[in-house]
Amino acid sequence: MAIRLHINIDHVATIRNARGTRYPDPVFAAQLCEQAGADGITAHLREDRRHIRDEDMDRLRASVTTLLNMEMATTDEMLAIAERVKPDVVTLVPERREERTTEGGLDVLGHRVVVEKAVARLRAVGIKVSLFIAADEATVRLSHAIGAHQIELHTGDYCHDPSARELARLRTAAELSHSLGLEVAAGHGLTRQNVLEVAAIPTIAEFNIGHAVIGDAVMVGISQAVRDMQAAVNRGVLRRG
Ligand code: PXP
Repeated sequence: MAIRLHINIDHVATIRNARGTRYPDPVFAAQLCEQAGADGITAHLREDRRHIRDEDMDRLRASVTTLLNMEMATTDEMLAIAERVKPDVVTLVPERREERTTEGGLDVLGHRVVVEKAVARLRAVGIKVSLFIAADEATVRLSHAIGAHQIELHTGDYCHDPSARELARLRTAAELSHSLGLEVAAGHGLTRQNVLEVAAIPTIAEFNIGHAVIGDAVMVGISQAVRDMQAAVNRGVLRRG
């Protein structure tokens, strides 16, 4: 199975916003990522606009030629923005203002009605919907039942504890999702090192990776950082049985 690498460019905007300048520009960064071989661009419009801003989403939509994946919370405000911007994919994520980054998966079981309505609204305007969830059987099954096209497995637990047990949890959830007809993405906390074993899981079709690539970009430039991550993912894919 071919594997897609989407680069999350949020933290280019984090650096820009730290000084209130117009640079570095996340849209220019997205263009460089695409030129370096990224299969898509991911951007998270957070409620507090701490990195990506509304005008960035509009400019990304006008500029991205591969695939634009908008990460967002299931709020009316964000749904209206997605309906206007029309990204290719929306990834619904949980969001709490005080968190440093997205700390857990979407609680689809606890917020079924809200999530189901959001999925339906996005589907109605032709947007592919991905749910960012923990590697949990009941959550996978419900994600499928409420009409998601894809799930993105939260790899944060594996990154904190890269054990055989955590890897097996990801594998089991990926296999179940795939068997139900869901596309399977993965992301959060992945680096050139820890992505290898996750990429070796045969049913994973997509990665969304941000922080590690932007961190590498500070050292080696964003084009090289994307190529290095792609090489790491491909090394993992070669381990597939
Ligand atoms: N996928 C989702 C749904 C996310 O919320 C994030 C963080 O914004 C990522 C992937 C990327 O995580 P990281 O920046 O740790 O690579």
